[in-house]
Amino acid sequence: MSKKLGFAALSAGMALTLAACGGEGAGGGGGGAGAGGSAAPEDLTIGVSMPTQTSERWIADGANVQEQLEGAGYTVDLQFANDDIPTQLQQIDSMITQGADILVIAAIDGTALAGQLETAASQNIPVVSYDRLIRDSENVDFYVTFDNFQVGVAQGNALLRGLGLQNEDGSAGTATGPFNIELFAGSLDDNNAFFFFNGAMSVLQPLIDDGTLVVKSGQTSIEQAAILRWQQETAQRRMEDLLTSTYNDGSRVDGVLSPYDGLSRGIITALTNAGYGPTLDAGNPMAVVTGQDAEIASVKLIQDGVQSSTIFKDTRLLAEQAVEAAAAFAEGGEPEANDTETYDNGVKVVPSYLLPVETVFADDIQSVLIDSGYWTADEVASGQAD
Ligand code: BGC
Repeated sequence: MSKKLGFAALSAGMALTLAACGGEGAGGGGGGAGAGGSAAPEDLTIGVSMPTQTSERWIADGANVQEQLEGAGYTVDLQFANDDIPTQLQQIDSMITQGADILVIAAIDGTALAGQLETAASQNIPVVSYDRLIRDSENVDFYVTFDNFQVGVAQGNALLRGLGLQNEDGSAGTATGPFNIELFAGSLDDNNAFFFFNGAMSVLQPLIDDGTLVVKSGQTSIEQAAILRWQQETAQRRMEDLLTSTYNDGSRVDGVLSPYDGLSRGIITALTNAGYGPTLDAGNPMAVVTGQDAEIASVKLIQDGVQSSTIFKDTRLLAEQAVEAAAAFAEGGEPEANDTETYDNGVKVVPSYLLPVETVFADDIQSVLIDSGYWTADEVASGQAD
């Protein structure tokens, strides 16, 4: 517990003594003391550290977490770190210095925060790892995320479905292949990248083994497929390089496993520039490209028949879980986990709360994204968030 929360815990025991002495209730600074080791939200500041504002996903996460925490009465110190590791470290340092009572952190580099977490622990500040697991530290108190392996499984299945190898209900489709595919993965300093890739490969590898799918470049390891910091431009360049090195013999790439919508758009740009598309039903069709996050620009591309699919993760629900975790710590308790086995951060298995994910093809945009209020029909039509 933070100084304030720790003080609250102490004060529960002291309350009787103080009452007996006719003293005033312990208030200590912000007056955060409550019964049973808890502190009122109004007395607590939550530091929220988000990786970047270059992706809508993280802007939405930041906004949702802030809104929900403030709605519950907490003061929020929200910072975005520009995808720059030293910036994130410095922002977390300053949250701690300025008296944050609880930290919620979506790491840029999940392996770079051990020092900051050590300081947090020494001041009894609970740390909630948000979406991305913070690694190599025993001072991660809870992890809220989606079922990241299932994200990968869903991406693998979406690629098969886009290629016609699988029907919506998971049964075998009418296509037989073989199909040329290429594989992309996320940033290797993000623990999620491994879960996505491994989940997808659990679906794709058997079909690679039996020759239905051919990774024509031969680049099948996550190290070869990885895109540092999930950068769209880097993905575009890698796709351009693959087209030049591997598909300059008149062959085509039929499908691309992409773990994130930003990468998908870079990949689609490279393919478009090479004469694919513009759509999935054009004469020289766009390759089947998967995605993740239901970013509005990609939802429009899906609506327009350019990008094949994405995986929707409702960040409003993730924000809710972060708020619940913070509340549990504020009340002097522990958040409720629904997974205590999967997320070993190298030092310990971090108790986690995993949320489910949904696959979105063009036909699902209305029911999954618009009806739930995630995007409006106008935003989908324009491809821009209001
Ligand atoms: C998140 C994904 C996101 C990616 C790039 C991952 O850690 O889980 O939702 O697409 O980072 O921002």
